[in-house]
Amino acid sequence: MSNNVIILAGGQGKRMKTNMPKALCKVIGEPMLEWVLTACEKAELDDICIVKGYEGEQIEDYLAKRESKANISTVLQAERLGTGHAVMQAADFLKAHEGGNTLILCGDAPFIDEETIRGALGLHTERDCGVTVVTSRVEDPTGYGRIIRTENGISGIVEHKDCTTAQLAITEINSGCYWFKTSDLLEVLFDIQPNNAQGEYYLTDCVELVISKGRTADAFISANPHVALGANDRKGLLMLNDIARYEIIDKWLDEGIEFTCTDGVSIGNNVVIGAGTRIDSGVNLRGNTVIGEGCIIGNNCIIENTKVGNNVNLNNVQAYESEIEDNVKIGPYVQLRPNSHIKKGAKIGDFVEIKNSTIGEGTSVAHLTYIGDSDVGANVNFGCGVVTVNYDGDKKFRTVIEDNAFIGCNTNLVAPVKVGKGAYTAAGSTITKDVPPSALAIERGKATIKEGYAEKKLKARTEKFENSRK
Ligand code: UD1
Ligand code: CA
Repeated sequence: MSNNVIILAGGQGKRMKTNMPKALCKVIGEPMLEWVLTACEKAELDDICIVKGYEGEQIEDYLAKRESKANISTVLQAERLGTGHAVMQAADFLKAHEGGNTLILCGDAPFIDEETIRGALGLHTERDCGVTVVTSRVEDPTGYGRIIRTENGISGIVEHKDCTTAQLAITEINSGCYWFKTSDLLEVLFDIQPNNAQGEYYLTDCVELVISKGRTADAFISANPHVALGANDRKGLLMLNDIARYEIIDKWLDEGIEFTCTDGVSIGNNVVIGAGTRIDSGVNLRGNTVIGEGCIIGNNCIIENTKVGNNVNLNNVQAYESEIEDNVKIGPYVQLRPNSHIKKGAKIGDFVEIKNSTIGEGTSVAHLTYIGDSDVGANVNFGCGVVTVNYDGDKKFRTVIEDNAFIGCNTNLVAPVKVGKGAYTAAGSTITKDVPPSALAIERGKATIKEGYAEKKLKARTEKFENSRK
């Protein structure tokens, strides 16, 4: 028996004032649709059909770039005639899964979770329901469909705009998430009529129709207080971001992570942080970043898809698609561009940029340096202001610096070039030839001293200065 999912994502972000489908608006850097898909994949649901509508190609483009565990297909709802009409567009998908159960989700309600999906399916199968609605008890039910309870389950859902005064007082609301027995849904889906306050085909009408066929309908109250939340405008979206931000921080507090101040702190859903690590204000941890134990992630660090070892100290660092090993200290004001690998115990100081390079164990790059396309060995010392000259305007070339080398201040290393083991370069050199191991390379103008040359010039200049002060 196959369980499958339909995600309703036809809506436009009209009040967001964007040309995107609403489901692609982002919460903590990920489209709301991504949150929903992730919950489905965690619940091990492999067959997903997305109902797209407004700017549906954008959903296609998004899916094409996504690494999906599940089989995901889409259908188009050309006209927006209601949630029931949206599901009708997926009729072929439903027919292909007749023997199973169908989960219906909203693409713009990002906080649906694995436990709710599994819990509701548990009740659904245990009671052999035709439909099980995921519900939430809320303080302010305005705008939501109300759940009409009976002794033995539920008898229906009434939309806010269709409620009687008594029904408006009901605080158990429809989250917009349901488990249907697929065959029961198909049996009633095309019987829905748009005879309601909004003139729409309401999916919620399926509940009464399923009951009229002699089946059971029940409601599963989710333990997740945010399960039904969606966003209609920018304010709502910011609220979802703040909720998610604090939920994730809360989870990490329970795991023993220290936050000195949560202002501006944002941690992605897939980030992992080791115990005893401290996070300061303004830190953004994104994508599949993994942070080890006992680290200090100082103010304003942005770390994206990067692996950070244990006891690493970062201060005002931006790192993308890189790896930082144990006991490394970096910052302030350092950027690691993609494919940088900083090995154990290395030290990277202020105003350093590293790109597509390996920095060996214990190596020190203390200040004002650019290292691009380079393989740097262990225990190398960079003086201030070193530049690897990796680009000739057409092609990029690599620089190799072997163990224990010492690169003098303001050295340019014109790639392709190699500095051998333990070799030195003299400060201010522009190194264009390979330096053999243990050698000293000096590639700069010879000093010329002209005794007394400056005297005449200096006299004229100081006189001018003295006159200006009179
Ligand atoms: C719906 C439920 C309501 C529930 C609420 C929870 C109905 C009739 N009502 O109301 O009981 O409390 O969700 O948020 O279902 N969509 C389409 N095509 C359409 C219409 C909607 O794809 O023609 C999509 C939307 O993009 C959205 C989802 O379906 O993702 C829900 O639609 P929405 O208009 O937000 O439904 P509500 O009126 O809020
Ligand atoms: Ca809604």
